[in-house]
Amino acid sequence: MEVITTIADLRRRLRDERQVACVPTMGNIHAGHLRLVAEAHDHAPCVVTTVFVNPLQFNQPADFTSYPRTFEDDCAKLEAAGVHVVFHPTEGQIYPEAQVFIVEPPPIANKLEGRFRPGHFRGMTTVVLKLLNIVQPQVAVFGKKDFQQLHIVRHMVQQLALPVQIVAVETLRAPDGLALSSRNRFLSAEQRLEATRLYRALSDLKAAIEAGDRNFAAMEFAADASLARYGWQVDYVALRRPLTLTAPEPGDREFVGLGAARLGETRLIDNMEIFAAQPVGNP
Ligand code: PAF
Repeated sequence: MEVITTIADLRRRLRDERQVACVPTMGNIHAGHLRLVAEAHDHAPCVVTTVFVNPLQFNQPADFTSYPRTFEDDCAKLEAAGVHVVFHPTEGQIYPEAQVFIVEPPPIANKLEGRFRPGHFRGMTTVVLKLLNIVQPQVAVFGKKDFQQLHIVRHMVQQLALPVQIVAVETLRAPDGLALSSRNRFLSAEQRLEATRLYRALSDLKAAIEAGDRNFAAMEFAADASLARYGWQVDYVALRRPLTLTAPEPGDREFVGLGAARLGETRLIDNMEIFAAQPVGNP
């Protein structure tokens, strides 16, 4: 495995590769990322993982500073997973000067996560576009854990006619259901036990919809209240259409439940896709 830190060296290394699959990350590699890498191997003989903590997508400077940076450990895991190249640029490589050309995502970027993290998706799409331009992969792999991110990246790739196929990978969960995330390491032992409640709240929404309940507002409210009762500070629990992230409409059979809430200082997000047997009545 090669670790490359400059754009020029990366371009030289990849010049003769015909099929490259890229897994963009911010490091702190865990089993969820390794699942993305495994998927990447199915799509190309050359797998590149980018490890770059992107300052542009953090709306809280403290979040950026405290983001876990574990590069040596990351490299050991990525090497064991058969990654061919790790691209680990400095901030100066990606932003040699103040970034004034910014991707402006559509209004959905100001809803759900975007409502609580202003500017996050502008920063995320800007760096993803840059990374795709730098690596020029045929395939890029993203996790469904960040469902809204995946939606926005797919839309950007389609609207800007980027020559890359976006592949989505299911969320990897601990045996008790907690979605794997770099932030889980901040949970105390007691909070770790409590943390599955978000997953369970989404599972309850799924069960209710599958049982024919179509009172979306009441279901969202109940999920929110059930978390708040156990000390969570809830940002949102929302049922949406999976392809547009807009509110469900009569006749829909496919939904996604999305949630974000803070347990102590740790903000967790999760989502669950739902396929209902019966169409929606009157929401
Ligand atoms: O999902 C992430 O880790 C980041 O948002 C990404 C896609 C690597 C862009 O910085």
